This record gives sequence, structure tokens and C-alpha cells, in this order.
Amino acid sequence: MTMNRTVRLARRPQGLPPADTWAIADEPVPQPGEGEVLVRVKAISLDPAMRGWINEGRSYIPPVAIGEVMRAGAVGEVAESRHPDFAPGDAVAGGFGVQRFAVARALDLERIDLRVADWPTWLGVLGMPGMTAYFGLLDVGALKDGETVVVSAAAGAVGGLVGQIAKIHGCRVVGIAGGPDKCRHVVETLGFDACIDYRKGDLVRRLAAAVPDGLDIYFDNVGGETLEAAISLLRRGARVVICGAISGYNDFTKITGPRNYLNLLVQRARMEGFIVFDYAGRYPEAKRQIAEWLRAGRVTAKEDVQHGIDRFPEVLNMLYTSRNFGKLVLVP
Ligand SMILES: NC(=O)c1ccc[n+]([C@@H]2O[C@H](COP(=O)([O-])OP(=O)(O)OC[C@H]3O[C@@H](n4cnc5c(N)ncnc54)[C@H](OP(=O)(O)O)[C@@H]3O)[C@@H](O)[C@H]2O)c1
Repeated sequence: MTMNRTVRLARRPQGLPPADTWAIADEPVPQPGEGEVLVRVKAISLDPAMRGWINEGRSYIPPVAIGEVMRAGAVGEVAESRHPDFAPGDAVAGGFGVQRFAVARALDLERIDLRVADWPTWLGVLGMPGMTAYFGLLDVGALKDGETVVVSAAAGAVGGLVGQIAKIHGCRVVGIAGGPDKCRHVVETLGFDACIDYRKGDLVRRLAAAVPDGLDIYFDNVGGETLEAAISLLRRGARVVICGAISGYNDFTKITGPRNYLNLLVQRARMEGFIVFDYAGRYPEAKRQIAEWLRAGRVTAKEDVQHGIDRFPEVLNMLYTSRNFGKLVLVP
């Protein structure tokens, strides 16, 4: 008999989640009710935000409960349908969680077109990270053609697309990433003008040399010292987009504020955070545009596809230890 393999939250971790944070088990495949479908999950999105979702306490969505299947965006194929709009074989995206089979309400499903892109890409540039890059840069950052843009975690799912969209808009784009391989990819494949390897140290001086006239947008994915370095280089009217602060996700007690935040005042700059889900009503517009850029070869998608649902605990931690290279996806 086919079974469903699930990853449930067993306990709330301290620091980088150890393997016993999770309970992995075989369970009966769930049955769809009226208006629902059964989905066979093809690929699961692993996202830095997952670390926040398993903490106790209030955030922008409730925490995953102990004993609950770990929350995750995913893509899959309809295996069984009890809704007239969906049939077995349809390709869909939704919040299916970390498991091999999921029951979902037909109302909550998004159809995906595998002729446009393969499964993992629908979790990357055509999925939530793509939406984050698009609206974070164009709406929150209010990008103008020809500006100077700096983005951290530049080889990652969000950062890689932020820089490519800025290049499409004729900007000078400087990435910040960890290690020579990622930096080479950012410049040679993604087309950024420069990339600074923050592991080499002396970030402020090297970043200043890369943006001698300062920067108009800093798209922050990592927080900490990198944020502070960028704030020291703001131009008049600059925007700092607070997308994430992955350097602090495993230990909130070590997060310190940017000591030089008064440079926002001096430069009449603003710093603004956002949550991509607030743009859900406009995702179709962004997806159409990004799909068009993909087709025209103006955007390159890079995914890091890992296999085996039992490896979820170690694969998730790749995000917080800089071992993923591109959008991290798990094929269960
Ligand atoms: N606001 C929103 O709605 C929203 C939505 C989606 C994502 N996000 C945020 O966007 C950011 C990027 O997410 P993603 O999915 O694209 O992940 P990603 O960039 O593909 O992967 C995470 C990367 O972060 C970097 N990193 C990890 N620990 C670090 C540290 N201590 N210092 C500096 N860099 C570190 C690593 O790259 P290096 O090798 O370069 O160190 C790692 O590969 C995250 O902060 C995430 O929370 C926000």
C-alpha cells in the first residue's frame, strides 16, 4: 500500500535546528473531501523563513504547532480530484507542507504550466522568491532606471533575481555573496557588474570601492554588519529594502541594530520592511513578466535541487550555513 511520508515539528529548537526538531514517519495517504484534491508532491520549497515559523510567539503568521506537518510551499500533480476544475495529472502549486502527499482545497491551488518552466523553477523565480525580488525591488525599493543597486545573498533565490531585474532596468548592480564560486556566478552568469566576497573581510572598504558614488538601493537579505556597511554608503534619497536578515535567524539575541542608522537622516533616506504575501493579488502580473524574461533569456534561473524527504533536517540547514547555491528545493 502506498503511504504518505511526513515531516512534523517535534520540538522547538534553539539555534541551528538539530535533527530531533523533526519527526519523520509513514502515515496513511489522506483522502480528499468534497471540493478538495489529493496532490502528489513533486518538489518542496525550502525557505529561510522556516526557521522563524518554528519559533514560539507572534510573527506575521502563526507558528507551526508541535505535531503539525512542517509548513512549506510546494508543487505537485493532482492524484485525485473532488472538484470539477481539477483532474488527475494537473500541475499545481500550494502550501502542501513537507510530505509526499497533501490534501488541499481546490480554491487554494494555483495552476502551473510546465511548458513555461520545470517544477523547481515554479518554486524559484516563478514562485515566492521571485515575487519577493520583483515587488521588493520595484515597489518597496521604487527602483528607477540607471540607479546603483547593492544586494546581499546575491547568489541566492531572491538576491539573484533582484540583481537581474535591476540590470534589465539599466542599473549598476553590485552583489555581496560568500565565496569565489558564488561571486563568479553572480558576475559571469547573472550579469551583475561586480560581486564582493564578504568572507574576505574589510567589507566597508571593498564595497565603497565598488560603488564610489554611493548607492541608491540596498536590498538586504542578511542584516548585521552587511546592513551597516551598506547604510554607510547611502546616497541622497536612497532606499534600504529590508527583505530578510538571515545572519540572525538562528540567534535573535545576537542581533544588533545598525549603529550608523542616522545616515538615513543625513541622506534623507528610508528603510522599509515588507512581507511578500501582501502582494499576492498582483502575483499574476509579476509571473507573466518574469516568464517573459525567462523566455527571452534575460533572466537565468538557478535551483539547487536536493533529493530525499528524510534529508529534510540537514537540507534545511544548508540555508543557514551558506551551503545552498541557488533556490533550495527538496524532491521528496
Ligand atoms: N520579506 C519577505 O517576504 C521574504 C520572502 C522571501 C525571502 N525573504 C528573505 O530573503 C532572504 C533570502 O532568501 P532566499 O530564499 O533567497 O535564500 P537564499 O539566498 O537562496 O539562501 C540563503 C543564503 O543566505 C546567505 N547566508 C546564510 N547565512 C548567512 C550569514 N550568516 N551572513 C550572510 N549571509 C548568509 C547564504 O549565502 P552566502 O553563501 O552568500 O553567504 C545562503 O546561501 C532571506 O533573508 C529570507 O528570509 C523575505
